Amino acid sequence: MENIALENRVFNPPADIAAHANAKADIYEWAKKDRLGFWDAHAKDMITWFKPYDKVLDDSNAPFFKWFTGGKVNVCYNCVDRHAKSERRNKAAIMYESEIGRQVVLTYGMLYREVNKFANVLASLGVKKGDRVALYMPMIPEAAIAMLACTRVGAPHSLVFGGFSPESLRDRVNDCGAKVLITADGNFRRGNPFPLKNNAEKAMEDTPTIEKCIVVKNAGNEVEMKEGRDVWYHELMAEAKAYYEPEEMDAEDMLFILYTSGTTGKPKGVVHTTGGYLLQTQATLKYVFDIKESDVYWCTADIGWITGHSYVIYGPLALGTTTFMYDGTIDYPDKDRMWDMAERYGVTKFYTAPTAIRTWMKWGTQYPQKHDLSGIKVLGSVGEPINPEAWMWYRENIGSGVAPIMDTWWQTETGAHMITPLPGITPLKPGTATNAFPGVEVDIVDENGEPAEVGYLVVKSAWPSMIRTIYGDDDRYVDQYWKRFGKFYFAGDGAKRDELGYIWVTGRVDDVLNVSGHRLGTAEVESALVECAEVAEAAVVGKKHDVKGESVCAFVILKDGFKGSDELVTKLKKHVGVKIGPIARPDDIIFTGGLPKTRSGKIMRRLLRDIAEGRAIGDVTTLADPGAMQEIASKYSGKED
Ligand code: PRX
Repeated sequence: MENIALENRVFNPPADIAAHANAKADIYEWAKKDRLGFWDAHAKDMITWFKPYDKVLDDSNAPFFKWFTGGKVNVCYNCVDRHAKSERRNKAAIMYESEIGRQVVLTYGMLYREVNKFANVLASLGVKKGDRVALYMPMIPEAAIAMLACTRVGAPHSLVFGGFSPESLRDRVNDCGAKVLITADGNFRRGNPFPLKNNAEKAMEDTPTIEKCIVVKNAGNEVEMKEGRDVWYHELMAEAKAYYEPEEMDAEDMLFILYTSGTTGKPKGVVHTTGGYLLQTQATLKYVFDIKESDVYWCTADIGWITGHSYVIYGPLALGTTTFMYDGTIDYPDKDRMWDMAERYGVTKFYTAPTAIRTWMKWGTQYPQKHDLSGIKVLGSVGEPINPEAWMWYRENIGSGVAPIMDTWWQTETGAHMITPLPGITPLKPGTATNAFPGVEVDIVDENGEPAEVGYLVVKSAWPSMIRTIYGDDDRYVDQYWKRFGKFYFAGDGAKRDELGYIWVTGRVDDVLNVSGHRLGTAEVESALVECAEVAEAAVVGKKHDVKGESVCAFVILKDGFKGSDELVTKLKKHVGVKIGPIARPDDIIFTGGLPKTRSGKIMRRLLRDIAEGRAIGDVTTLADPGAMQEIASKYSGKED
């Protein structure tokens, strides 16, 4: 065993999990034989419908697929009411801890009261079915309450990650024309309040559609409240009525918009709808994390990302699970903070990202070893390929050497898991997401869309939680995902298949970076850079990074009359951080006189990546100006910061 390379080792499912797993041995067979029947049975079993649907899948207007047409349903009802009215009434729905140690537990009964009241608050401010509501919030229970209340009144929400800048918030609010913005005064970061409302204030200087801004008092920091527009959450809630009838939503009504980076400078508003999303988030969570009644489930993702939507809020609550939320940094007051909480709250299922695992690896095993983590039975990984070393470390140190790791491949656009092992069934190999989830059909194809062992990852048929369109831009939706391979969904990732038939996702094949598991368009960073008066042109690539996976590396051509300097590097980095958010800040900025371009003018990022990572320069025969390459390479050699 010792001599076998990590990625070739096979780990069989633990016998105790296999014996009682939610997923039965025939699950793949069943879904393969009757894909729509599989989803149909789960939709009937897992969702409480106000009115049954007529049809499972309507593909008559592909790629604008419709699931569960004619069905009437409400997501909040499914996540809260049906549990609050059952034996789960006094079960913890949300357990929360803030960085400074404030604890909140909301039972399903309590959550029911809060979401009803907040739905009434929204309605009293004029929010109706179909109106968009923007959220710019920390990981606090009020964020979950606000999301659920939006779904109760039928108002699609658009969450903007709290780490995004005022400008990013402004652009996202304006793109969807949100009527209300919900935020908080601030939240704690390493013991200091981070002033979220100030950022929201700056964004609202130019968001004409925002009528009201609801502010949760969280950190207690001083905030300015604009008369007539800004209102305190607690004041509105004090007055609010206790019940709001959940809207009967069509299965295909919009549930939320979530912006994600694409290959152009403008983020895409990914639209998800009601019935299919509610189904696939539940079904995947139930089988992939083998959710049982007594579980305490912790997904560390921020609610501002799709993982937070699907696997902190909607999936777990729809299943009636206890979901744990933490708002704070992972090393405050010390590097064992996460393990301390996992032990104290009795976490049984734990889901995180490879970048975090690599950070913990760097810090050392002494931190998890301080705590009893033996209650953790299933582990998950998401956001980027997990390297086999990190996989092994995770299993050994967080999973007590036995917990299976669910490496889940999916995207903002897919809404829920697509490629993933199942803990009681799938033999695991470190670094592969293994097989498509039952009822999901994926493949690897070559340039021509023909099956291949190495190539592009595609989804071959519609799935319930799929993206329905890009908000306000149906053409971009078709162009982006369906043009390249016709009837297959193009995911933008490369993949290869091994001898077991397992799929290894190798990373993006388009101009999208993955920095610490967060998607970032090269074009977004480039357009931020060229806004600076000194910059004539910029090309951004991802450079391998041992913790972040990829870091941002920018090649910059200055305008005549400007010279590169350390001060300018600092200024440009800061500008990108302010413009987009700290995650987009380049680690490296390299001034250059030219950029390698093809004859048709396309920047050859592959070559830039070779230089950034110090590899030999590849084929330059298609370069318009091969000399440009040498010049960049010599400038870059030895430069790193
Ligand atoms: O490149 C893939 C990578 O993350 C991208 C999706 O990013 P986003 O929409 O922000 O969603 C992240 C959380 C679902 C994918 O196109 N990715 C995600 N999970 C994995 C992954 N790459 C390899 N293995 C994974 N498990």
